[in-house]
Amino acid sequence: MKHLRLGVNIDHVATIRNARGGVHPDPLRAARIAEAAGADGLTAHLREDRRHISDGDITRLAKELTIPLNFEMAATEEMLRIALDHKPHASCLVPEKREERTTEGGLDVAGGHNMLQSYVTELKSAKIRVSLFIEADQRQLEAAARLGADIVEIHAGAYCDAEDGHRRQQELERIRKAAAIAEDLGLECHAGHGLTFGTVGPIAAIPTIAELNIGHFLIGEAIFIGLENAIQKMRNLMDDARKAVA
Ligand code: PXP
Repeated sequence: MKHLRLGVNIDHVATIRNARGGVHPDPLRAARIAEAAGADGLTAHLREDRRHISDGDITRLAKELTIPLNFEMAATEEMLRIALDHKPHASCLVPEKREERTTEGGLDVAGGHNMLQSYVTELKSAKIRVSLFIEADQRQLEAAARLGADIVEIHAGAYCDAEDGHRRQQELERIRKAAAIAEDLGLECHAGHGLTFGTVGPIAAIPTIAELNIGHFLIGEAIFIGLENAIQKMRNLMDDARKAVA
């Protein structure tokens, strides 16, 4: 069974720093702790409004990290230029609305086909792996494959936010089906958004998912048990879930 990678999203370390300005807490320090605690990669989203991660953070992360950087970005000329300047291991294209609190919904790859093609092509020709953040929907998966994306990241928000067990099970099935379709289409499958200690297990048990990207919960939990412990506990829950289906 494939090793399930954990990508730690450190955006909200920057959120706390920015609440007071200044330099503390430093996302790069969090990145180093994540690395030592067993993260396989680091994720950072440079938003148009720079509400958390800054340009300087991306420069330092790209230069100093020894594990792969997954650069989350909106499909804009500005972000494309920054990605091409820093050449992260991967770029994950996400929809971005200024008024949203976090990434709401996946990218409409099926509807925005022509607009996204040039971004996928340019990133790939710079040897940056391209990931598209989408809903667990067959049309979106097929469109991602047509565009030539390397990876799809399935939005786990509806599964995590489901208010009752039945609904959660339905959302889990949707993700499971999407992960199987991704494999048939030759797309590497990731998942993320909203995952917690309580919700990660069933997603980690889907054998064709290669990576989970987790941020907000880990940074919040770090307040109580420390970042290293929070990441190690998440890592153990993921590994246990994988082992159980091996
Ligand atoms: N994956 C993507 C594409 C995201 O946009 C986010 C949120 O920035 C995450 C994963 C992580 O979500 P969360 O912070 O809820 O764990």
